[in-house]
Amino acid sequence: MESLESRIQAIRILFDRVLKETTSESALEDVRLIFLSRKGHIASLMAELKAASIEQKKITGPALNALKQHIEQEYQNKLTWFNQRATEQEMARTYFFDVTAKKSRPYQGRLHAYTHITRELEDIFISMGFSIADGPELETDFYNFQALNIPLDHPARDMHDTFWVTYPHLLLRTHTSPVQIHVMEQQGAPLAVFSVGRTYRHEATDATHDFVFMQAEGIMVGKGISMANLLAIARAFLCHVFDKEDLAIRVRPGYFPFVEPGIEIDFSCPFCKNGCSRCKKSGWIELLGAGLIHPAVLRAVNIDPTQYTGFAFGMGIERLAMLKYGIDDCRLFHSAQLEFLHQF
Ligand code: FA5
Repeated sequence: MESLESRIQAIRILFDRVLKETTSESALEDVRLIFLSRKGHIASLMAELKAASIEQKKITGPALNALKQHIEQEYQNKLTWFNQRATEQEMARTYFFDVTAKKSRPYQGRLHAYTHITRELEDIFISMGFSIADGPELETDFYNFQALNIPLDHPARDMHDTFWVTYPHLLLRTHTSPVQIHVMEQQGAPLAVFSVGRTYRHEATDATHDFVFMQAEGIMVGKGISMANLLAIARAFLCHVFDKEDLAIRVRPGYFPFVEPGIEIDFSCPFCKNGCSRCKKSGWIELLGAGLIHPAVLRAVNIDPTQYTGFAFGMGIERLAMLKYGIDDCRLFHSAQLEFLHQF
């Protein structure tokens, strides 16, 4: 059988190796149990020593005591080291942080381009004395067409590819012009109202057409309101929105059943002098459909066309925003692409 001395030596070597490989406080507790507990190596060596002869005790006793002290001391040192390390880690976590450390930023919310342009347009028209109105996106045939002088069999209905819903006579509005009818019905004359809202057309999409898009509508009704008022307001609005004092406008005939005469208002390109991609090298940009409100429309809302006249104009918000911000595809507005949205 192996002698007590050689076992004392072997236990010391084993302890030193195990302690070196101990990397956590819980593993150190296991080491204590293996070597120092009542059923551990030291206790069993002590029990063996008890049964040894006096001579044997004289030789082996001091060696076993030295081993016991060595194990207790080394165990205590390692325990102290683990405690210190834990305290230092906690302090570092609590008190010290690297102010230069790179931390990825959470995406910050931005206002949508629609919101920016809508607010800007509303501010401009409020400054010119207009009030702001809203209208339903789910409309009746009456407000979207009939009251706007587009009866059931009118060919102008073909200009608006309509999303009909399953309830009879209900549709997703194809333009913001029905807001004219709502506000004239509710407020009567005189009035000056501006409205921006979502509109829908059952159309194939491309860079300048979407099936859902935004329009703006302006309307002014009063005694003696004329084409001169319309052109002055249109020019003032365009100068404001493109931040230019000297924009020229020109007028071409345009057909919309709810205005007579109907016109298209173009403005001189604010981006170039000799032609650029935004004005398609023509020096002019088309933006507004407009005209004097048709007497049939005034009559439909109980406003006497012999007493009152008015003008109305409408435009596509994407078209305006694309020009203003240099956007080349109107479908980006609904694309939810963060790179696009974050520019605004
Ligand atoms: C109208 O919708 C008339 N309600 C405008 C109007 C109001 C005229 C008041 C006279 C008086 P139009 O169909 O042309 O007009 O549409 C107006 C603008 O909406 C267009 O110039 C265009 O900029 C925009 N638009 C039309 N269809 C689409 C589409 N599918 N996608 C994006 N924009 C569109």
